[in-house]
Amino acid sequence: MDNKQTIQWFPGHMAKTKRKIKEILPLIDAVAEVVDARIPISSRNPDLAEIIENKPHIILLNKCDMADSRITREWIDFYKKNGITAIAIDCKSGKGINQFKDTVKTALAHKLEAYAQKGMVGKPLRVMVIGIPNVGKSSFINKIAGKTRAKAENRPGVTRGNQWFTIEKQLELLDTPGVLWPKFEDQTVGEHLAFTGAVKDNILDTELLAVRLLEIMGKNYPELLTNRYGELDFSLDAYELLCQIGKKRGMVIRGGETDTERAANMLLEEYRNQKIGNISLERVEDYA
Ligand code: G4P
Repeated sequence: MDNKQTIQWFPGHMAKTKRKIKEILPLIDAVAEVVDARIPISSRNPDLAEIIENKPHIILLNKCDMADSRITREWIDFYKKNGITAIAIDCKSGKGINQFKDTVKTALAHKLEAYAQKGMVGKPLRVMVIGIPNVGKSSFINKIAGKTRAKAENRPGVTRGNQWFTIEKQLELLDTPGVLWPKFEDQTVGEHLAFTGAVKDNILDTELLAVRLLEIMGKNYPELLTNRYGELDFSLDAYELLCQIGKKRGMVIRGGETDTERAANMLLEEYRNQKIGNISLERVEDYA
């Protein structure tokens, strides 16, 4: 099992991460927040805006290969309207990663200009990469930094544990010092993180989880469900739909009833493995 999925968020750890980020803030020029493009709201840290104060902020909608590209574009427009630059990236194939450097330079054009005026041409821009576990933060850093590993850091105020990566002469990345947390007290957030496999689903009721996932997919992606499971009756409620899907897959127990637990596990696994298609679970209109 993936260790990252067993992470526990303790108030003490959270306070420590917050403190470490605050300490580093004066040394960085911008924050790049990695989120899961399928659940851009639930995969965020609820306290980030307060923690990073008014540092320029770039959102990386990662795993866009698994999301619905139309919805991802809507999120990008939404953030743009709110003064935040967002780009879609896919750390599996590397798609979109090349945009990152230019995006940072555009977002920090005023800094580069100020450096040039002060004769500090070549002074690197420093960006902290932030994200809750499993959004693909390490994949992003590995992809963009390639073999440029962390260099020893001895700038004042920066402790040894911090991982800096030189991306190019004028751009350095810093991995988040500590683990960021999602808004775990919110039930919808917990469910959405479980749908994508970002948190363990055995702390939640699998059947209930599958039913909730079917509610969203039945509403927004009925044709993808039909393509995968055959003709379905969408006038049924989500639990009955799960039974219908299970039956179609031969998951029947004594008395001809559906083995709903097996059906639920199958549905969740097929969603996570992208067997059903490119599905975004959070839409701008539900949150704006
Ligand atoms: P983290 O540092 O934020 O905790 O996340 P990490 O990079 O470890 O990524 C978590 C999982 O998400 C990994 O899968 C990783 O491969 C996958 N991932 C990251 N970026 C993308 C992306 O853009 N697209 C897709 N499809 N997947 C992505 P894993 O199952 O934990 O490991 P593995 O499959 O790499 O073995």
